[in-house]
Amino acid sequence: MASYEYETHEYDVVVVGAGGAGLRATLGMAEQGLRTACVTKVFPTRSHTVAAQGGIAASLSNMGPDHWQWHMYDTVKGSDWLGDTDAMEYLAREAPKAVYELEHYGVPFSRTEAGKIYQRPFGGHTTEFGEGPPVQRTCAAADRTGHAILHTLYGQSLKNNAEFYIEYFAIDLIMSDDGQCQGVVCWKLDDGTMHVFNAKMVVLATGGYGRAYFSATSAHTCTGDGGGMVARAGLALQDMEFVQFHPTGIYGSGCLITEGARGEGGYLTNSEGERFMERYAPHYKDLAPRDYVSRCMTMEIREGRGVGENGDHIHLNLSHLPAEALAERLPGISESAKIFAGVDVTKQPIPVLPTVHYNMGGIPTNYWGEVINPTADNPNALVPGLMAVGEAGCASVHGANRLGSNSLIDLVVFGRAAAIRAGQVVDRNAPNPVLNKASVAAAFDRFDGLRHANGAVPTAELRLEMQRTMQADAAVFRTDKTLADGVEKMTAMAGKMTDLKVTDRSLVWNSDLMETLELTNLMPNALATIVGAEARKESRGAHASEDHTTRDDEKWRVHTISRVDGSKVALSYRDVIKDPLTTPAEGGIELDRIAPKARTF
Ligand code: FUM
Repeated sequence: MASYEYETHEYDVVVVGAGGAGLRATLGMAEQGLRTACVTKVFPTRSHTVAAQGGIAASLSNMGPDHWQWHMYDTVKGSDWLGDTDAMEYLAREAPKAVYELEHYGVPFSRTEAGKIYQRPFGGHTTEFGEGPPVQRTCAAADRTGHAILHTLYGQSLKNNAEFYIEYFAIDLIMSDDGQCQGVVCWKLDDGTMHVFNAKMVVLATGGYGRAYFSATSAHTCTGDGGGMVARAGLALQDMEFVQFHPTGIYGSGCLITEGARGEGGYLTNSEGERFMERYAPHYKDLAPRDYVSRCMTMEIREGRGVGENGDHIHLNLSHLPAEALAERLPGISESAKIFAGVDVTKQPIPVLPTVHYNMGGIPTNYWGEVINPTADNPNALVPGLMAVGEAGCASVHGANRLGSNSLIDLVVFGRAAAIRAGQVVDRNAPNPVLNKASVAAAFDRFDGLRHANGAVPTAELRLEMQRTMQADAAVFRTDKTLADGVEKMTAMAGKMTDLKVTDRSLVWNSDLMETLELTNLMPNALATIVGAEARKESRGAHASEDHTTRDDEKWRVHTISRVDGSKVALSYRDVIKDPLTTPAEGGIELDRIAPKARTF
């Protein structure tokens, strides 16, 4: 057994991750007087939420009529009827409250002339249950909304005495023999010390795994660490095959150009200068949902109407917008376009391409953020002591496709919900759990094994192979053949994880070891994605199969549950929750409104 000295820390709650969801959960826990620690591998304000641009959806009605039921309807339709109805109602109903709380905490939202929070249009957000025009529902702080939220939540968390453990890498969960989560084992990156966090509740807020792909808008830190830990603990992942491609990543660098650019009046053109979205989505045009716009762009390129020397991308036009509007509403992307594409948006179009942006799947939870580990007898069985929120979790509000600006609202609504729930279930006066020594030892053994790994495959080489395979075989459009090939290749790659080579054995700022630990998290996420995709013989949301082109609600309106063990993935299925939280008599939505139908735009 590996022998490492470690320091033990005891808290009521330990939140892993300090993005929007992690910080909102941390703040909510600390406000209630729970002894709360937030453990994060990057400085909180460098978490990936800082890159969120366009805004946060809530039916505030600041720019025209809106209603939470319209927001719920759009979310249900956006999810292609794979979202859980109770969670989607909770999201849409709680969104205005959660945004006003942010405002009161100090988020510097952009303002209307009347001093209200400014809201812009975003794809798939409509009025009158999809019958009316697009709605301005996305609350924005220019095009730096995530940045504004993150800084505010970090400041408020400090004010409420949450304790931060910064640049600590979470290695593995500590699980009791009877399946309770008791804490997490961590490595402090800057001095090489080891730490065991003992907690009555662990909240995974570790973000997505965009870096399983070659080109992603996600930060390089988005390595699915929560999903990896959960998979190693023998717990479930859900709906991993649904990977969102954002229509407008900058061609080449993958850097995000916010959908807010189209919300402010930007539009896409092909090599013929045609605004082709008018043809595909006559009603919503460039503001159709992302999965649809990404597919239309891909079809234009495939049919020979892509722009550029190789005809392999599309143009996003903003130059017709007033320069003052660009400076006020879109300063960040104007700068990104200059730096990463060399274009002046007041004069030239931005070269863009659909780019991996978001994982709809993740760790299954209920709408309180409590982690579910379905069993044969109980599809909603909970894992005591464990929650997951934000992109790491799958509540599931986004189903098969997330609407733009429903991510930031997911972070704060469910971070807040997790805190409310923890306030109810965590007993402040109870002693902390007696840690399962075998589980702690297993985490150190795994860490030590990787630290001394002396096989034939360098981490960077295997990571690149994985990223290229996922990019090619689990793309915007998928076929039975590409997916089957991808499963075969990914299975072989996962087998090579026991033959990794790490060259640096030190414990202080060892990026070789850290990236290897991250690869052990990326790999199960990637494998679950491609295996789940290969099995799903229909097209739904972001999963567009060229061999099974229609949605099959009879057979496939189910969540995919995957359990990853090394290079093997076992799949099972769990029913989508179809009942809302409230009945029409209680003010809830009419069921007929949200019954499945064709998704047209
Ligand atoms: O386009 C954007 O600003 C991204 C927003 C989102 O993913 O919700």
